[in-house]
Amino acid sequence: MPTASYHWRCLLGLLCLTGLWTAGAAGFLEDHFPASVLEEAELSTLQLLARHNYPGELHAVTTEDNYVLQVHRIARPGAKPVLLMHGLLDSSATWIMMGPHSGLGYFLYDAGYDVWLANARGNRYSRGHVELNPNTDKAYWSFSWHEIGYYDLPALIDAVLAKTGFQKLSYFGHSQGTTSFFVMASTRPEYNAKIHVMSALAPVAYMGNVESPLVALGHRLLRAVGEGQELLPHALNGCLLSERTLQTCLYYMWKLLGKNPAEFNETMIPVIMHHVPAGASSSQFLHYLQLHKSDRFCSYDHGEKENQRIYGQAQPPEYPLEKVTAPVALYYTQNDYLTAVKDVKRLIERLPKVVEDHLYEYMKWNHIDMVWGISARRMAQPRMLEILQIYEAGKAPNGTDLTTTQSAERTTENSTRETVNPIDE
Ligand SMILES: *[C@@H]1O[C@H](CO)[C@@H](O)[C@H](O)[C@H]1NC(C)=O
Ligand SMILES: *[C@@H]1O[C@H](CO)[C@@H](O)[C@H](O)[C@H]1NC(C)=O
Ligand SMILES: *[C@@H]1O[C@H](CO)[C@@H](O)[C@H](O)[C@H]1NC(C)=O
Repeated sequence: MPTASYHWRCLLGLLCLTGLWTAGAAGFLEDHFPASVLEEAELSTLQLLARHNYPGELHAVTTEDNYVLQVHRIARPGAKPVLLMHGLLDSSATWIMMGPHSGLGYFLYDAGYDVWLANARGNRYSRGHVELNPNTDKAYWSFSWHEIGYYDLPALIDAVLAKTGFQKLSYFGHSQGTTSFFVMASTRPEYNAKIHVMSALAPVAYMGNVESPLVALGHRLLRAVGEGQELLPHALNGCLLSERTLQTCLYYMWKLLGKNPAEFNETMIPVIMHHVPAGASSSQFLHYLQLHKSDRFCSYDHGEKENQRIYGQAQPPEYPLEKVTAPVALYYTQNDYLTAVKDVKRLIERLPKVVEDHLYEYMKWNHIDMVWGISARRMAQPRMLEILQIYEAGKAPNGTDLTTTQSAERTTENSTRETVNPIDE
């Protein structure tokens, strides 16, 4: 068993190898992965959709502060829209890259929805700006997930509603896709009225109880990198050079997300590693590390003097979660190094309208299993769809009007277990 320090030295080597896709690597890949998977590993989100015969479309959305985002749509014109927002270093591909028999994007499309897969500013698909060039203008990168919530999400929601003619949509976020939603819904509360229901997968707001072994390392690395720097824009091709480099990358992946090889389809590694990481600003990480340290869900900490100027107080203000009046369904797991159950419970206490509090009973599910996991289609997605349909219709299946009754606002964990069968039954 290689030691942690072996992996650490190897990781530094891999980061240096990033972008090196050598002829030597091809031999390892071809010996270990099916040709069809290696073909998919070369494809973008839209190319993946086309390969599987889904109607992909590209839309551009400009934010109030002039960032130009790409949204990928699995187009079902006339159908109800759902907007899906990925997590940190991830992209629209996350919802479909495990294939039509697995991805939530496909599942929702097949269930009759018009599916919009967003890309946050700074990821590989959303590097546009009216004036700034991400390759040469450092100012481009001075944002965290605060700006993704405050500017990107409202622009995306308004664009989807304008294009489809609906007055409301439903939202799915994973990880940072939930953080940014809570930023939007608390700081621009008028957007709550545009949301039927927000489904929060591995929600991240409070972080005081996060115990990832990589947090301390993150503090050290990010301090060295500094604010507003572009991070990890390319696939870590160095991971795919040999069995050794692959094991090192997986070692770090488990340290970050929580280890659960049983739900991880190893055959898809080339596709996953082609799409993740997809780029971010170092300030997104720094902002998260601040939450971890302060144990508060609050705006970016610029230091006392700057805070005084920007916020009129020495400490960055907390996000007013009581203003998140949209119905929120939360799905979270017990082996998640980035989302601690205790922190989700605190979040739930603060949110005014929790309609589903769904802690999966599978002890090993981690931060990503409900998105990429082998059992996600069977064990997670049906309930997500059910909740979506209930709150979208504004009526429970038995006819009860949910807009006038409070009784359905908190579904017990019991009732969720009845609808989702345990894995080993
Ligand atoms: C893993 O992915 C491969 C390639 O897409 C697929 O054929 C296989 O069914 C998947 N395995 C499981 C257990 O889902
Ligand atoms: C109908 O369903 C809602 C939501 O599931 C529930 O709160 C309510 O008690 C049900 N009403 C009846 C009459 O069964
Ligand atoms: C869960 O269901 C069991 C058996 O039906 C019941 O005894 C228990 O009180 C329920 N717990 C909750 C929290 O509803």
